[in-house]
Amino acid sequence: MGIFTAKIEPDAEGYYPALPQADVREGEMRRVTINRQKVVFTMYAGEVVAFAGRCPHAGADMAQGVVSGWKAICPEHHYCFDLRNGRLAWPPDEPYRLRLYKTKLVAGLIFVQL
Ligand code: FES
Repeated sequence: MGIFTAKIEPDAEGYYPALPQADVREGEMRRVTINRQKVVFTMYAGEVVAFAGRCPHAGADMAQGVVSGWKAICPEHHYCFDLRNGRLAWPPDEPYRLRLYKTKLVAGLIFVQL
């Protein structure tokens, strides 16, 4: 017997409803699964930041890592990504980049463009 999950539809701009703004705080991560895609939400400098739930290095669950200021640190090999642009801050000289997603706020609810 299969498990039925409702498919979430985006708005006209491709934004999906994700979670209430009140659930997102600086220094904390919230993982949301939207149509099987894992997205992590946090707050940096008063702005909501949304990024891919799987580490681009080897696919670890980023939500099990740490966010601190502009840094998101993967739990597996401790690669450090810059939440301002997705670039790898450590280690140097590797090509990985954390995928960031655009967000918007509507009536206290965060929407994410996937
Ligand atoms: S899987 Fe994230 S640093 Fe290796």
